[in-house]
Amino acid sequence: MTTERSALRVMAPCKLNLFLEVRGRRDDGYHDIDTVLETISLRDELRVSSAHELEVHSDRADVPSGPENIAFRIVRAAEARLGRRLPARIEIKKELPPGSGLGAGSSDAVEALRAVLSLHDVRIPESDFLALAASVGSDTPFFVRGRVARCLGRGEHVLPVLARGLRHYVVVLGAGFASTPKVYAALLGDFGERSPEGLLEALARGEALTSDHLHNRLQPAAFRAYPILEDFEHRLFKSVGRRAHLSGSGSAFFFPVLSENDAMELRERLLADGFDARAATSGLPENEGSS
Ligand code: C5P
Repeated sequence: MTTERSALRVMAPCKLNLFLEVRGRRDDGYHDIDTVLETISLRDELRVSSAHELEVHSDRADVPSGPENIAFRIVRAAEARLGRRLPARIEIKKELPPGSGLGAGSSDAVEALRAVLSLHDVRIPESDFLALAASVGSDTPFFVRGRVARCLGRGEHVLPVLARGLRHYVVVLGAGFASTPKVYAALLGDFGERSPEGLLEALARGEALTSDHLHNRLQPAAFRAYPILEDFEHRLFKSVGRRAHLSGSGSAFFFPVLSENDAMELRERLLADGFDARAATSGLPENEGSS
């Protein structure tokens, strides 16, 4: 986090779901999931500065400014919990499109709250931060710590995962907006019992990930809800001869690769075929207080 007078500039990293199993539907309408998430180097950027009121400004027309933005909602939730006002101007420079399954909006919210608290010199226990995050979304709690974690329940129970070394990915954007409720609704009872043990062992040993380690129970549902995603994946396969993996409920796809060099090569090939491909590595941006 860099400070310029009373303003903070922070990076909000996005996530990939390396593993996502859906165990069943709950009475509250959510689903019990078992997911392994990793923060990666693709990120939005936020500027948080002093103001008289709480203001949130997004620079994308399809991401709301003001009270509808999840960053606004999490700060309001913190005000209610702390019993004090936390006025601030939050400007969100979106690099990542909404509805991509990368959790960018959730990450924006968590980093916005972290910066607002820092601006007001307010410290809260991590357990309170996790509870605030869980009050606005299911993958928001993961971003309180980031790195690699296994998330259970509806996603709000965050268990840190030992992951050695660095992982490289190519992420492909541009397949359109995928609505998470619509994808969950298209599951049609297609639940499973797979466990991420193989992935967790590979992460602990610092081994390169292969497609065998990855799983996403939501992918067939996303293809049912948005047939255009299946076409997109076929086109990716035709371009590079490898199967791509959907992150979360989509629409972003990703490929694990062995090295930065491999990421650059794969990215070039995809760019040449007209895809919006980005090279990414595992990890967290160096925001103060986020390590
Ligand atoms: O909590 P969040 O706002 O991210 O969830 C969006 C929607 O996705 C929920 O309203 C629900 O329809 C669906 N969902 C679910 N089970 C989860 C997470 C999300 O059914 N574990």
